[in-house]
Amino acid sequence: MKVWTIANQKGGVGKTTTVVSLGGLLSSWGFRTLLVDMDPHGSLTSYFRYDPDALEASTYSLFQAVAEKQTIDPASLICETGTEGLDLLPASMALATLDRQAGRLEGMGLILKNALDKLSDQYDYILVDCPPMLGVLMVNALAACQRLIIPVQTEFLALKGLERMLNTLKMVLKSRKTDLSHVIVPTFFDKRTRASISSLKTLRESWPNELWNGVIPVDTLFREASRAGIPPAIFDPRARGVVAYAALLESLQQIDQPHPSAGVAG
Ligand SMILES: Nc1ncnc2c1ncn2[C@@H]1O[C@H](COP(=O)(O)OP(=O)(O)OP(=O)(O)O)[C@@H](O)[C@H]1O
Ligand SMILES: [Mg+2]
Repeated sequence: MKVWTIANQKGGVGKTTTVVSLGGLLSSWGFRTLLVDMDPHGSLTSYFRYDPDALEASTYSLFQAVAEKQTIDPASLICETGTEGLDLLPASMALATLDRQAGRLEGMGLILKNALDKLSDQYDYILVDCPPMLGVLMVNALAACQRLIIPVQTEFLALKGLERMLNTLKMVLKSRKTDLSHVIVPTFFDKRTRASISSLKTLRESWPNELWNGVIPVDTLFREASRAGIPPAIFDPRARGVVAYAALLESLQQIDQPHPSAGVAG
């Protein structure tokens, strides 16, 4: 089982879109896939027509069980998405209270990891969607994954947000026993705009090793698919946005293959 977290402290950069896009592709390629919503706003949960304001069972239940010293089967929290092979562990609004209590949550950094470990026989891939802020939820998501995907909008302000995210990563790495490979994914790329072209150039110059060598283009398909509540890859497999995410997925899977001479998986 592979766990990938999608995070960036900046809002609206395409995190949730990356999760549903990669998730739809993975399930259509035959991988049993779980999407996990760690954002109190529950955009991923709403995408699949569940109401984060009304849900009783959610990722919050994992934290609540630990606080109340009870055990919970994470499989009991999982919902269907309407797409075969693609499941959802939804968010509820109660998650917002966790970040407010963060001071009292010492020792709560591994709750998500411990829960996902229990699902390792049931899924090939787990993709975790994060809120756009550093707090106990993001810390849990970073502790639970083997890979971090950082979507970055190709515009000037976004680069500052990326620096902040990479600093967070450094901080989290100090408390992790294992390394965390990360990839920067340029999103909302519009080749007609100077902002897109010049921020992509800056990304290439500043982070040549971490940057994926493709781009996710601006594509109205993402909003249409979201309005329909269907993963983009199922809504329109040939759309250029979907083709771009498929190329990203292929390159991520290639990195995950053990290198013949290194003998260590990424
Ligand atoms: N490549 C794209 N082209 C056009 N629209 C996009 C693209 N990626 C995402 N969007 C749209 O932009 C909006 C914001 O995207 P998304 O919700 O994925 O960002 P986010 O980083 O998860 O935001 P938040 O920080 O609020 O959680 C959504 O309406 C989505 O449909
Ligand atoms: Mg989001």
